[in-house]
Amino acid sequence: MMGMPSVLVLNGPNLNLLGTREPAVYGYETLDDVAGRCREAAARLGLALDFRQSNAEHQLIDWLHEARTQVDGIVINPAALTHTSVALADALSAIAKPVIEVHISNVHKREAFRHHSFVSPIASGIIVGCGTQGYVLALERMAVLLANEVVS
Ligand code: DQA
Repeated sequence: MMGMPSVLVLNGPNLNLLGTREPAVYGYETLDDVAGRCREAAARLGLALDFRQSNAEHQLIDWLHEARTQVDGIVINPAALTHTSVALADALSAIAKPVIEVHISNVHKREAFRHHSFVSPIASGIIVGCGTQGYVLALERMAVLLANEVVS
């Protein structure tokens, strides 16, 4: 695996409930299903994958601090922290690596409080409303960014 670009896929609060939580909005796939899809995509794209989820803001931030030196790119679904967390956005800003923001649902079709993202201004790309396929699309884009050594 040496020499493969590495990507951290981070999932925020409540995404551990995927598959049972509001399936009309988020679908019936579980987070394990999404991890499986990401593993398949990463293998196909020649990326080393680290897939994680936490309900704790501080844990996500600690992982992002580690990522500053440990990974080449970050795909993140910050979940509700997207709309609330300056701290998470600051942690992402401190990383000179490409960041792609993913949302399973189309947040712009939903409540007004979901329309603002603290993460979007520092993201290289944003994938919204493509269901869990959004994670695969994000990894495909990340492979292109890393192959071209695009930082932001
Ligand atoms: C979400 C959208 C957020 O508004 C929400 O809080 C989530 C999931 C999405 O993937 O669609 O938990 O990030």
